[in-house]
Amino acid sequence: MSDKELNWYYEPDLKTGDLSEGFPDRYITREPIPERLDALLESLQYVNSKVEGDAPKLRPDFCTWRGIMTKVLCAPYSRDKWELGVTLYNGTIYMEEHEKRKDLYGSTDKDKLMSYMGYKFESLATIPVPPSKLNGLDDELLAKRKEGFVNTNIQFCSVFKTKVGYNSIVMGAEVDCLVADSRPQKNPQSAYAELKTNRVITNPNQQKSFERHKLLKIWAQSFLPGIPTIIIGYRQDSGALSHIERRKTLDIPRSVRGTQPGIWDATVCINFADAFLKWVKTFVVEDDPKVVYTIEFDGRAIRLLRVDKGVEGVEGCFIPDWYLAK
Ligand code: A3P
Ligand code: MG
Ligand code: MG
Repeated sequence: MSDKELNWYYEPDLKTGDLSEGFPDRYITREPIPERLDALLESLQYVNSKVEGDAPKLRPDFCTWRGIMTKVLCAPYSRDKWELGVTLYNGTIYMEEHEKRKDLYGSTDKDKLMSYMGYKFESLATIPVPPSKLNGLDDELLAKRKEGFVNTNIQFCSVFKTKVGYNSIVMGAEVDCLVADSRPQKNPQSAYAELKTNRVITNPNQQKSFERHKLLKIWAQSFLPGIPTIIIGYRQDSGALSHIERRKTLDIPRSVRGTQPGIWDATVCINFADAFLKWVKTFVVEDDPKVVYTIEFDGRAIRLLRVDKGVEGVEGCFIPDWYLAK
C-alpha cells in the first residue's frame, strides 16, 4: 500500500499530443474479471489497524467502490442497468457490483480504441515527479509518457470517507493525478484531479448531449470523493488533442442548470442517493456475511431481487474469510 503510482498533472503538448498513438501495440489491459471489494477491505483493515488505544475505529454505515455510488447518484437520469450484492456485517453494509465486465475494454476495435484514448490521456497528461522537480534533463521523462505503454493494471486507489444525508460511507476510488506541487497532509483530495477525454464539440446538439449525459457522470464521479478539479482533454476523431479545459466539480451543476428542458439537477441526485441508502437499511438487517441481498436497477426502477444465504464464493458471498477472521 503506497502512493508511488500517484502521478502529477503536467500539461501535454497540444501540438504533438495524439491519443491514438501506440494503439494497439502499446496497450496492456487488466483481465476483465469482476472486481470484488477485497482491495478496499484490505485498506479499511489497514486503516483500522493503525487506530491506537480507545480511539474509534472506522465503522461506516456503508462501504463500497465509488463507481457504485456514482451509478446510484446518476440513476434518476439514466437508463443504464446495474445489479448489486449487498451484505451487512458488523454494522456496516457492504455493496459490490454484479458486473458484466467482458466488454470493459470494448467489444469492437473502435470501442477498444475509444477506451485506449481515455487511458492514453492519463499517460500523456501526467509525470511521476512534481513539476517543480522537472529540469532540463527530463526530456526522457516527457518522451516516456508519449512513447511508453498504456497499462491499465497500474492505478492509484484512495479510500475516502464521506456522508450522503445521515449515511456515512467509506469508498474506494481510483485517483488520476495531483494538481499541486506536493500532496497536502490534510485533505489530500483537495489537490486531486480527475482526467477525462471528450471528442471536440462542433454543434449545439453535441453540446446538449455532453451536458445532459457526460457532465452528469463526470460530476457524480468526482463530487462523491470531493475531488475538486476535472481536466478534460478534447480530441479530434483521429485522436489528435485539440484543447484542454479545467472545470471545478462544484460549479458543474450550476453551469448546466436551465440549459435545456429536463436537464439533470444535482439536488435530485443527492436526495435520491440518500433515499436509496435509507431504503437499503430498512431491509438489509440480517448481520451475517453469508447473507447476500441482490438489488437491481432495470433502467426504470430499483428493487430487491432476492436474498441468498450461502457460503463464500458459492452463492455470491463476497466478504472474504481473511476479513472475517480479524
Ligand atoms: P474517459 O472517461 O476520458 O473516456 P476514468 O476517467 O474513470 O479515470 O477512466 C479512464 C478511462 O478508462 C476512460 O477515459 C475510458 O477510456 C476508460 N474506461 C473507464 N471505464 C470504462 C468502461 N466502463 N468502459 C470502457 N472504457 C472505460
Ligand atoms: Mg482514471
Ligand atoms: Mg479519468
